[in-house]
Amino acid sequence: MTDIPLVDLSVHHQPRDLRDRIALGFTKVLRWSADTFFAKRYGHRAIVLETVAAVPGMVGATINHLKCLRRMCDDKGWIRTLMEEAENERMHLMTFIEVARPTLFERMVILGVQWVFYLAFFALYLVSARTAHRIVGYFEEEAVISYTLYLKEIDEGRSPNLPAPAIARHYWKLADDATLRDVVLVVRADEAHHRDVNHGFASELAGLAPTGRSAPYPAHADDIRMAA
Ligand SMILES: [Fe+2]
Ligand SMILES: [Fe+2]
Repeated sequence: MTDIPLVDLSVHHQPRDLRDRIALGFTKVLRWSADTFFAKRYGHRAIVLETVAAVPGMVGATINHLKCLRRMCDDKGWIRTLMEEAENERMHLMTFIEVARPTLFERMVILGVQWVFYLAFFALYLVSARTAHRIVGYFEEEAVISYTLYLKEIDEGRSPNLPAPAIARHYWKLADDATLRDVVLVVRADEAHHRDVNHGFASELAGLAPTGRSAPYPAHADDIRMAA
């Protein structure tokens, strides 16, 4: 079985300027909305929020791709990193859809939120890529907290520790007898990695010294189609 990387739960980027504070404030408003809407329905929460989480990587990849074409310059590896992030978040969604089924109302929310969030994030990235990456960094801090709370629900018996879905066992190279708890652990490790990557990108764009912090990324299957 693959080793599940440990996650440093204490990581938080202290806001340094107005843009950071706006990013953090926006994230806290969305956190409060998600807490109010989902309460402790973590399976449903994961599905709806992963449909949102898979958007920024693809937007960032698209805009950086277009910029590199126009300027005829190197992307320093950002495009692939961001595309992989989007794919990884989509695999989170494909995993949790095996655990819970969204209600009709949640599907309508996903539809509406996708329109608004995609366009708003695209516009924000054009205006301030740095703020966009800082927002994702803060989103991922919250994702780490949410999956830690989901683990607590499982450990304290309020959520059943079901067998891991086959798609998850394949994608994260988990053992045949892996459980939902193992899946939540590797998903949380993915989120911690995205957190550090996006805070790193935001800091680089802000001209700050790199922290050198990057939570280890769990191993993923090379061919995700086998998981389908
Ligand atoms: Fe995710
Ligand atoms: Fe994430």
